[in-house]
Amino acid sequence: MRLKKVVFPVAGHGSRFLPATKATPKEMLPVVDKPLIQYAVEEALEAGFTELIFITGKTKRAITDHFDQTLEIGVSNMTDKKKQLFDEMNNIIPKSASCIYIRQGEPLGLGHAILQAKPVLGDEPFAVVLADDLIDAKPGVLKQMVDRYDDSNTSLIAVEKIKKADSIHYGMIEIDSFNKALANIIDIIEKPDPVDAPSDFGVVGRYIFTNQILDYLAKTNVGTGNEIQLTDAIKSMLATNNVSAYEFLGTRYDCGDKLGFVKANIEYALKNNDFGVELESYLRNRLT
Ligand code: G1P
Repeated sequence: MRLKKVVFPVAGHGSRFLPATKATPKEMLPVVDKPLIQYAVEEALEAGFTELIFITGKTKRAITDHFDQTLEIGVSNMTDKKKQLFDEMNNIIPKSASCIYIRQGEPLGLGHAILQAKPVLGDEPFAVVLADDLIDAKPGVLKQMVDRYDDSNTSLIAVEKIKKADSIHYGMIEIDSFNKALANIIDIIEKPDPVDAPSDFGVVGRYIFTNQILDYLAKTNVGTGNEIQLTDAIKSMLATNNVSAYEFLGTRYDCGDKLGFVKANIEYALKNNDFGVELESYLRNRLT
């Protein structure tokens, strides 16, 4: 079945980024001039997804507003550059794609958030994107994964090598060995202490699931952090289904974390056509 549906869980609190996220969704924090959620949406559109399902919640209205066509283009003396910017803003979502917003009424975690999409997912496979994992990659990581999924029809999870000391922030996997960037997942555990981490590969926020994951999510009890964990549902699914780890090509920035977010801004700003060169010379002077 062709992959059309992608879920963006955006109801999380962003507590690692307070006070910025007290009233502003963490997904609306900008890297240079675009909010994180727009990078995530553009990655999904590039990969061919056409049904964008946002699981939203309290204080997240700005995300819904962002993808509306609300800007008046009636200003007569606008420069061509401004006009182009306005056009781009009003065409983030092409006519061929649609946005669906579902509220997660209770903050019960990532697994619970994804389960809220069940009525619109039907029996189709789908992707999940966590927007605070910003990944600089060409092609984008979702496109890389869709190409692999077409080959295998097995659920796919993006992973990367992380410092073992950081395992407390990730779903950590046990795998056999990688072959062309893919490995079978044998076990998965949510945010273990470093001594309990089964490898140094951590899960990054890109997933493609066969529809069975929804049955496992529905049966998953509250786990780590008093939340219904996606990782626990994946672990149950491993008993009956193959799930593969995909070591993606690209550079990931953890933008739910202040330092990761600042690094992303520096890197994306250095690549900016208008001021990248000037920024580089500023940084060089600043650091000598
Ligand atoms: C979530 C998942 C975790 C994964 C991480 C990737 O955690 O629960 O398994 O490794 O995203 O960013 P969160 O960062 O939402 O706490």
